[in-house]
Amino acid sequence: MRYVVTGAAGFIGSHLLRALLERGHEATGWDAFTDYYDPALKEENAAGLPVERVDLVDDGIDLDGVDGVFHLAGQPGVRSFGSVFPTYVRQNILASQRLFEAAVAGGARTVLASSSSIYGDAASFPTPEETTPRPLSPYGITKLACEHLAHAYGVEFGLDAVTLRYFTIYGPRQRPDMALARMVACVAEGRPFELFGDGSQSRSFTYVDDAVEATIAAMERGSAGRTYNVGGGEEVSVLQALEALAAVAGRRLEVVRAPRREGDASRTAADTSRIAVDLGWKAGTPFVRGLEAQWRWAADRVATR
Ligand code: UGA
Repeated sequence: MRYVVTGAAGFIGSHLLRALLERGHEATGWDAFTDYYDPALKEENAAGLPVERVDLVDDGIDLDGVDGVFHLAGQPGVRSFGSVFPTYVRQNILASQRLFEAAVAGGARTVLASSSSIYGDAASFPTPEETTPRPLSPYGITKLACEHLAHAYGVEFGLDAVTLRYFTIYGPRQRPDMALARMVACVAEGRPFELFGDGSQSRSFTYVDDAVEATIAAMERGSAGRTYNVGGGEEVSVLQALEALAAVAGRRLEVVRAPRREGDASRTAADTSRIAVDLGWKAGTPFVRGLEAQWRWAADRVATR
């Protein structure tokens, strides 16, 4: 198949593009190499991959002849109040609207990367897809707007889109501002970890290879207009993650307390029955195994610097 991956120099996008190429697909990546985090890390992620520099808002985008587009590009991070808001609107809502226009024009099936942060502090756990979304962060609000845009383009213009709500994806090359990436870097470099809040907040952490499998399955077999949670089987608190890392790395991490960040959900837990029934997908990687892989990756990087 001919595929395009947007955000292909990012964490999940680079894993996905590599997996598609390994499976023999003709796949190209697009990425704007924005500076939300050090673009040198994105260059590193994209090394050896066919990634073109494309800004979805400013550049002409053409999906003619493309079978499917995986739309992972966006401005991430739930800590998104204040002056950064216009950037979230641009990189998430405006970029997705242009992408959907191009997908309709080119007849390309679309898999949209959304987020567990559209639930905010959810009304029930584990949270099924039909729960009323109540995002707490401007980021989550822009991701929810993207979901609604995909729906409207589907109804009015026949956009063939499947939406995935990723639950805190982790593993090697995880975005450097995320909790586990910071933890492993702090252990490897002997620096203290800044803990936001009391550490009782928990996540359905999902290993990146599992997320990639779910994403490809959604493109191949997802029903048009469907939304799926992509979440790990285990719910782990930030304090439990710190304990697990101490065991994996054989070293304890010094922790510095900081206030809870606005927009931070206190708990996420995915109900994954829908994706299990429709796509036969289930997160297969136990948290400790995934954390080991991420720790090894971070430790090797520090050792070879
Ligand atoms: C992550 C991503 O940042 C979002 O882009 C994504 O949409 C979201 O997951 C999702 O999948 O829905 P988050 O769950 O907040 O958001 O993931 P982490 O950055 O790994 O944070 C997990 C917890 O650790 C949060 O409560 C956070 O406040 C805490 N944390 C994070 C710290 O205590 N210290 C840090 O340095 C970083």
